[in-house]
Amino acid sequence: MKNLIQKLTETFSPSGNETVICEVIRKEIKAFVDDVSVDALGNLIARKGSKSKNGLKIMLAGHMDEIGLMATHIDGNGFIRFTGLGGIRLTGLTGSRVRFMDGTPGIIGAERLTDLTKAPSLEQCFIDVGASSRKDCPVKVGDVCAFDRPFLDLGNRMIAKSMDDRIGCAVMIEALRTMKASPHELYFVFTTQEEVGLRGATTSAFGVDPELALSVDVTTTGDTPKGSKMEVSLGNGPAVKVKDGGMLADPRIVNWMIRTAEKAKIPFQREVLEGGTTDARAMQVARAGIPSGCLSVPTRYVHSPSEMVDTADVQNSVKLLVALLSAPVGL
Ligand code: CO
Ligand code: ZN
Repeated sequence: MKNLIQKLTETFSPSGNETVICEVIRKEIKAFVDDVSVDALGNLIARKGSKSKNGLKIMLAGHMDEIGLMATHIDGNGFIRFTGLGGIRLTGLTGSRVRFMDGTPGIIGAERLTDLTKAPSLEQCFIDVGASSRKDCPVKVGDVCAFDRPFLDLGNRMIAKSMDDRIGCAVMIEALRTMKASPHELYFVFTTQEEVGLRGATTSAFGVDPELALSVDVTTTGDTPKGSKMEVSLGNGPAVKVKDGGMLADPRIVNWMIRTAEKAKIPFQREVLEGGTTDARAMQVARAGIPSGCLSVPTRYVHSPSEMVDTADVQNSVKLLVALLSAPVGL
């Protein structure tokens, strides 16, 4: 599975530019699904199985896009000003390497700071691609880039850019490969534009029209020095979301997830995330409303160029997802 995670996280596909990662995922899942399609917003929708007597129509959503930057202005000396695609963190931005969709590499620099104790604002930062004038700058206004960092395997921990949410995509792909039988009609949806407002999940949930929906995404942790007060730690198992900044998970889904984890003896943790949300929010309020929840992979340093997950958490997330989908739900 680590090869898959490396392949997914080293692919560049910021929000709105998901066709590259879409093709990578399509190749990985083709042999394991009955039907694959791509909708108008670029969501990759894979159907597996049909509904038996005790089955439901279930939609799973993992977002394919990653946070990125978009060029807004190029000055006379070839320096590129930019805006964020998704929630860019200002700390640690300078010195980061980026890669544009055509392969052009660059680094992020900042204007001279008068107060070195504060991170520069987005307006003070620029991208340097080694150009010396606007004319020889290969980047145009509107071009997008993503952080450029190789995947790192520490054995029990893995680090990469875009773990958010390629790790969720990897968990869904691995579940597809290892699942034996399911009473459900399953839609594995790899969504677009999550980081800019859950847009792909909004249209795909309307199109699929499921009876139950789960997102598979990352959540932050509270286990780092003076970190946020949060009960989720790396290595304690997948997190069952109870609440985040945009959604109250359906209590019936929370209970079903916990029941299933306990029965299968899979470690899990309850998650209350105060900020941020996932595709589950969009699915929950789609059409006339869909019972929704979220399986979260605990992740440190979310939205930085080096996001860290625990290898056992990832494996247990796959196990929990397979266990959830392999039996009737019985809410
Ligand atoms: Co995110
Ligand atoms: Zn995410």
